[in-house]
Amino acid sequence: MSTTTEKSTATHTLIESRWSPRAFSNEPVSGEQMEALFEAARWAPSAMNEQPWRFIYATREDEAAFEKLGSILLEGNSWARQAGALFVSIAKTGYDYDGSPNKHAWHDVGLATGNLLLQATGMGLHAHMMGGFDAAKAKQALGIPEGFEAVAMGAVGYVGDPESLPEPLRTRELAPRQRKPLNELAFKGEWKQQ
Ligand SMILES: Cc1cc2nc3c(=O)[nH]c(=O)nc-3n(C[C@H](O)[C@H](O)[C@H](O)COP(=O)(O)O)c2cc1C
Repeated sequence: MSTTTEKSTATHTLIESRWSPRAFSNEPVSGEQMEALFEAARWAPSAMNEQPWRFIYATREDEAAFEKLGSILLEGNSWARQAGALFVSIAKTGYDYDGSPNKHAWHDVGLATGNLLLQATGMGLHAHMMGGFDAAKAKQALGIPEGFEAVAMGAVGYVGDPESLPEPLRTRELAPRQRKPLNELAFKGEWKQQ
């Protein structure tokens, strides 16, 4: 048996398998599954270990709470109401220790959310993040206190049939996923003009 660690450069299967569907099946997502996602988020790194992320969620079973979260979505994200669960990610904008602005708060909420998305993938779930929601309405409807800001919403569930979607969502759902080439994104040593 080899004692050296294999140094693979392959993109991890979890990362390769994650994507953001719009068509969700009506299979339910449980509170335990959602807690597993937030547990993964809990272990993300953060500036000063402040853990500035907070989450509010509802599974479809909890009809009133699910409806309340759904009502915060903008029209273009109505497809998310078919998901098994919805959540809002929230940032604590000031540091715990002296209240000064934490300029990494949203960054760290993103890191925690990244953990959550990969955990979902590992559990056979899919999650789709959305910036298209009414943050002021979220604050008011969900009782988010001063010093905290709603960052994004997420829909969680099992992939559904793309044919169930109206156009242009169906076409988007079936289109190949696009990414910028790596040489436009990562530079060795100094900034490179394209
Ligand atoms: C912060 C954030 C906001 C987003 N907002 C929306 C949105 O409002 N509606 C939507 O359909 N998708 C939204 N997306 C999903 C992106 O469009 C999607 O992640 C991107 O197209 C890449 O596709 P993939 O996640 O399948 O790799 C958002 C994603 C993030 C991270």
